[in-house]
Amino acid sequence: MTKICCIGAGYVGGPTMAMIAKKCPDVQVTVVDINAKRIAAWQSDTLPIYEPGLDEVVKEARGRNLFFSTDVDQGIRDADIVFVSVNTPTKTFGEGAGCASDLQYWELCARRIKEVSTTDKIIVEKSTLPVRTAEAMDRVLHSGQKSVHFEVLSNPEFLAEGTAVADLENPDRVLIGGHETPSGQKALKTLVDIYATWIPRDRILTANVWSAELSKLTANAFLAQRVSSINAISALCEATEADVAEISRAIGTDSRIGSKFLKASIGFGGSCFKKDILNLVYLCESYGLQAPADYWRQVVLMNEYQELRFVKTMLRNMFNTIAGKRVAVFGFAFKADTGDTRESPAIRVCRALADDHAKVVVTDPKAIENAKIEMPDLLDRIEFEKDPYKAAAGAHAIALLTEWKEYKTLDYQRIFDSMAKPAFIFDGRNMLDHKALFEIGFEVYSIGKGLRTHLK
Ligand code: UDX
Ligand code: UDX
Repeated sequence: MTKICCIGAGYVGGPTMAMIAKKCPDVQVTVVDINAKRIAAWQSDTLPIYEPGLDEVVKEARGRNLFFSTDVDQGIRDADIVFVSVNTPTKTFGEGAGCASDLQYWELCARRIKEVSTTDKIIVEKSTLPVRTAEAMDRVLHSGQKSVHFEVLSNPEFLAEGTAVADLENPDRVLIGGHETPSGQKALKTLVDIYATWIPRDRILTANVWSAELSKLTANAFLAQRVSSINAISALCEATEADVAEISRAIGTDSRIGSKFLKASIGFGGSCFKKDILNLVYLCESYGLQAPADYWRQVVLMNEYQELRFVKTMLRNMFNTIAGKRVAVFGFAFKADTGDTRESPAIRVCRALADDHAKVVVTDPKAIENAKIEMPDLLDRIEFEKDPYKAAAGAHAIALLTEWKEYKTLDYQRIFDSMAKPAFIFDGRNMLDHKALFEIGFEVYSIGKGLRTHLK
């Protein structure tokens, strides 16, 4: 029986391994993590992350061929294949601070693998890493006197949160990079065969290790760039009475452009986009490529501009003063269908509102606990309320920041009646029925459409 161990039971490691275990009952999968609380949650009925459909996948395989453990060494020792899926955050210190990836956890894993292994293993980079990390990994793994052989593959994960289960079950492609040596190609085939259990062969792409590593950074950079591009146009739309949704539709029907990732918003969030682009910037700079570095950095700067532009628009329309005014923030997660709040634009928006002395009340169906963790210093100034109706009662404004579908079907007449007047709604996701809201009596601002006002 093939044995897999995955180090890192996070948003990527947990769901990915659960899907492999579900699809390959004859492969034993053990997910290990140094965080005992997280492992306990994976073993319980309340998983540590919210992801539609994940409970069923985990329940089917857990205890059969899917196990969660804090015994990292044992997990590594027993495995034929070790996935490394630990976090690689942006460095906050020293050389490359604010840009480069912090590889300390990843290197600790490599050292641990070398330390405890007594048999040959395939090591799979699942974490997003700078290009040529596999080379460093090879060096660490093969340093010193040991007869054990490690073959490093790169297998970046492209799942998006909120749709992780569907993305894993039916991915556009799986990408596996291996060295162009006989042992590299043999390892590559082993991993291809596992994925081929449920994924058509023509969607399993193989490449050299460096291309695989760099493809992940490139994919995220291109996706984020589309969001920044449409957000740049949204600002111009507001100045010219063009409607960004109409523009997205018009350009998205061009098959060369395609319709996805053209939704204007308050900005992209999530643990990957900003981190990966900054990493790309750092890589370009370290190879002396300043123009490409500047080009990609602009995608992140545009995103920051969009977040701040939203807050400034709120302030300007609310008569340049929000001090003492209750503002209901609808949605704190970085996107719908997840409880994840990492790099959520809501963090910056709430902080700016609180700095301007607004009475901020945050509501979200899944992310309130994580929201509290994001803003430990503001807990005495920000209210958290599960019920959106209660959050909006008495408020001067609603700022809709996450596109939860339940926000589409709220009784906005009831909400309007309970609010201070004039009642503002700032739709940071361009998802509500603005005409209907305006007819109820709201002052309605939407990204890329501007303000509809009764106050002329
Ligand atoms: C991570 C990376 O951030 C991302 O770059 C990559 O693409 C996929 O893996 P994610 O799963 O979202 O993404 O990270 P996170 O939820 O933080 O999970 C990482 C886990 O690794 C944590 O549970 C942490 O406790 C664990 N970990 C970290 C270890 O088990 N050992 C370590 O040495 C460090
Ligand atoms: C992303 C990549 O899509 C995925 O392939 C990779 O593995 C990890 O990073 P994720 O961050 O989970 O996934 O979510 P994604 O759906 O890409 O959205 C990222 C951010 O962009 C969200 O804040 C989302 O709201 C925003 N977005 C997305 C827009 O503002 N407009 C769009 O049209 C699309």
